[in-house]
Amino acid sequence: MKKIRIGIMGCAAIAKKSVVPALLALPDQFEVVAIASRSPEKAQEFAFLFGCKAITGYDNLLLEDIDAVYVPLPTGLHDEWVNKALLLGKHVYAEKSIAISFASAQSMVENAKKSSVALMEGYMFLYHTQHQKVKSLVAEGAIGEIRNFRGAFGVPPLAVENFRYDDKIGGGALFDVAGYPLRAVRFMLGDHFKVTASNLYTDPKTGTNLYGSAFLKDENEIGAQIVFGLDHFYQCNYEIWGTKGKIKVERAYTPAPDFKPTIILEQQGKLEIITEMACNHFIGAMQAFYDSITGVKSKEEHYTAILLQSESLQQIKDLSKA
Ligand SMILES: NC(=O)c1ccc[n+]([C@@H]2O[C@H](COP(=O)([O-])OP(=O)(O)OC[C@H]3O[C@@H](n4cnc5c(N)ncnc54)[C@H](OP(=O)(O)O)[C@@H]3O)[C@@H](O)[C@H]2O)c1
Repeated sequence: MKKIRIGIMGCAAIAKKSVVPALLALPDQFEVVAIASRSPEKAQEFAFLFGCKAITGYDNLLLEDIDAVYVPLPTGLHDEWVNKALLLGKHVYAEKSIAISFASAQSMVENAKKSSVALMEGYMFLYHTQHQKVKSLVAEGAIGEIRNFRGAFGVPPLAVENFRYDDKIGGGALFDVAGYPLRAVRFMLGDHFKVTASNLYTDPKTGTNLYGSAFLKDENEIGAQIVFGLDHFYQCNYEIWGTKGKIKVERAYTPAPDFKPTIILEQQGKLEIITEMACNHFIGAMQAFYDSITGVKSKEEHYTAILLQSESLQQIKDLSKA
């Protein structure tokens, strides 16, 4: 099968630490051709590190002979760059959150369809094997029928200059941490969950939302609560509560590749701690991108996931003002 020539748009920390190494770990699938930055020095530094070409300016990256682009820019810049890449016929893997509005996500999906290219959003945790273990426990009836989901992702304050505190380029807890437990609701329980209530606190100092929560439910009144924030005691978990037991995943969204996560299964009079294997979910995500590009797996399922996720984030924002 064809090797995909990929360019990296922005010398982001996540690209350096996790995503480019994952691409390099799949040499039969990807060739990292070039990395672009607004700064020539930064592009040189990253290009040297990864043995690829340094490009100054994101437009220039799109002039390269590449099939695909990885976009780890702040969310507020995605509308311009993701759409430019899609309209040039490039497959795009964009970091979460992919869009600052449902309308923006719709335009990206339309453009991806128009160009018949793959479009994926960077929720890498979906490719960690620990969640498959949870799904099998649920399917085997370990916790009976599901009655409730609770997911939390909150991190301590970041450096004040971090783009996550800049509302103008899509900063804020909603587009950063909220997306994880929100995505986990549908991933674990199904696509039929709808947002019905939310709260979102905006920090008057930065004008950027800092924390919040939301409630989702399905047609059987099964509820899901998500909580998130950028000035919190660290939490990165979800739990699924059923008629006969409860499962808690302690390090749900960001386990490092060498970390062995634990799943806690509670049943009447019994508590079991299951230690899962370490897993590099970044490699799994890049393999999924390759499979979507090459047609081994459907492009459509990723388009749908992007639309459902962006619609829910939009609803959380809108309902918090209601
Ligand atoms: N999936 C995951 O596990 C995961 C984990 C962490 C982060 N992320 C996502 O990845 C993206 C990047 O996060 P990060 O923590 O790696 O951020 P970061 O290190 O600050 O990288 C963002 C990059 O965007 C470019 N950029 C362009 N205009 C910018 C502006 N006005 N302000 C700041 N940066 C600008 C910069 O590249 P140049 O200077 O080279 O042009 C910068 O290196 C975010 O969307 C985030 O949500 C995903």
